[in-house]
Amino acid sequence: MGDARKLPANFPIDDLIDMLRLGIVVVRENGEIVYANERFREFFSLREEDLQKNIEEVFKFLFPDYSPVSPPIRLGVVRGEDVFVWRTEEGRRVFQRFSIPLPEGGAVVAFRETQEPIVLDEKLLRADRLSLIGQMAAGTAHEIRNPLTAIRGFLQLLLPSLEGKGLEQEANYVRLILKEVDRIGSLIDQFLLLGKPREVNYKKVDVLGVLRDLMPVIESETLLRDTELVLSLPGSLPPVIADPDLLKQVFLNVVRNALEAMERGGMLTISAEYDPEERQIHFAFADTGPGIPPYLLDRIFDPFFTTKPEGTGLGLSVCQRLLQDIGGNIRLTSKGRGTTAHIYLPTVGGA
Ligand SMILES: Nc1ncnc2c1ncn2[C@@H]1O[C@H](COP(=O)(O)OP(=O)(O)OP(=O)(O)O)[C@@H](O)[C@H]1O
Ligand SMILES: [Mg+2]
Repeated sequence: MGDARKLPANFPIDDLIDMLRLGIVVVRENGEIVYANERFREFFSLREEDLQKNIEEVFKFLFPDYSPVSPPIRLGVVRGEDVFVWRTEEGRRVFQRFSIPLPEGGAVVAFRETQEPIVLDEKLLRADRLSLIGQMAAGTAHEIRNPLTAIRGFLQLLLPSLEGKGLEQEANYVRLILKEVDRIGSLIDQFLLLGKPREVNYKKVDVLGVLRDLMPVIESETLLRDTELVLSLPGSLPPVIADPDLLKQVFLNVVRNALEAMERGGMLTISAEYDPEERQIHFAFADTGPGIPPYLLDRIFDPFFTTKPEGTGLGLSVCQRLLQDIGGNIRLTSKGRGTTAHIYLPTVGGA
């Protein structure tokens, strides 16, 4: 008697895949293409010779994260279903994407084109808009950064010579210009993070170590604002796959938001725990600020949404973008008083 829970040996898997109109690709962890069916090749205009190449090479004209098989998928960090938007000259094609990590490393990725006019839910629309902004920003941010560096350099040269000549007022103007130049600079930095044209360096990291590295900055900022810092962290946590510098950026954005929301005498509590069921780490950054009114909670992740006179409104957008890329998530909750930023990070292996 056979086992009715097992697929029979002659199961017509190819016919099924064909009927489901699935584009399938199988890649190894290093990006080698093990298999790509015809529909996958059609979806993404692959040529015959592309199959001999590394998947990174095939899509090298895209930032890795906009590739149909992004590094986190290839590394098996991101699993499950999402929506993938592919822009071509003819327009955009929208796919349901299914990513399944393989036990020996690498992944199977299946694509199914959505035919109906797409009703993207609000969250996906936002993610798409974000990636568009990112792509746009990445193109121009670098161009702005270079002249800005030159401007900054010359202003800094100018300052001491004005001071030397006793031109205090002029020197003050230059200081003001420098301050504004720095503001543009930090806006550009955020932009660059959204677009991420730089090399992303994913590796196994200990998030507690990342947080520990940040502690001097967090401590000095809390001290400066006269707020109390409470830590509730476990002795160890399983590793996650992430770029440690980008993770720092996420933590820092969230900490800054909390501190900016609080008056003197507030309290910031950072806690973390591992959820073995979901195999993820849950970080909570809880502040005692005024909280976020329900009608705004919905908009705080919109790029450029800010309630601060000096804010860019990109902080949380950047966090969301960076976390999404590693299969993580961020959510803010606020009930009456205080706000908590919840950050979820998927863990890997040996937990
Ligand atoms: N901990 C918090 N308490 C209260 N409001 C918050 C908190 N975190 C975020 N917000 C709200 O969400 C908005 C968006 O935050 P985000 O970090 O994206 O931008 P920003 O902080 O305004 O600007 P930037 O990050 O560039 O300084 C904030 O302007 C604020 O209204
Ligand atoms: Mg912010």
